[in-house]
Amino acid sequence: MRNGVAQQSHAIYPGSFDPPTNGHLDVIARAAAIFPVVTVAVVVNPQKREPLFTLDEREEMLLRCTGLHPNVRVDHFRGLLADYVTSIDAHVIVKGLRVVSDFENEMAFAHMNRSLSNVDTMFLMSDSSYSFVSSSLIKEVFLQGGDISKYVPDVVLEYMQQKRLAQVRK
Ligand code: PNS
Repeated sequence: MRNGVAQQSHAIYPGSFDPPTNGHLDVIARAAAIFPVVTVAVVVNPQKREPLFTLDEREEMLLRCTGLHPNVRVDHFRGLLADYVTSIDAHVIVKGLRVVSDFENEMAFAHMNRSLSNVDTMFLMSDSSYSFVSSSLIKEVFLQGGDISKYVPDVVLEYMQQKRLAQVRK
């Protein structure tokens, strides 16, 4: 974006990233092309369920996958996203949209975050080829023996394979 607003903005792209997918990377690349600084922020305790990957593993995978973007950094946060965004003086939250139902959920989050911290949320549509790709589906397919290599970066595939080996050895 060539206007002054985006050039001054530090964007936060929050998520569980358990694990990061090609859809996440697509949104990160789009955000990195718009905003001067993008922080990919891993939530410490995802609300949905016990994560497959530890916080350190999720951050390591993201660092290795986003290394090509000099303006992307990786961080983590606990508690409310609105408080984290304020604490690091960021200007905007970025969220990815795949399908219309994503928007229905995200709209309430965006209003709540703006109400709590006066920070706006901008939505970026991931490529349509990722419209059905989610971390939870990737985990389910992988843990049932399916091929997920099309949907995650090679680094993530390696971490997934190591995780499966570790589980088999238990
Ligand atoms: O990748 P996810 O699991 O869809 O990411 C969800 C996330 C981390 C963005 C959301 O759960 C979140 O913001 N959690 C922090 C707690 C919080 O602020 N909750 C109120 C949201 S309005």
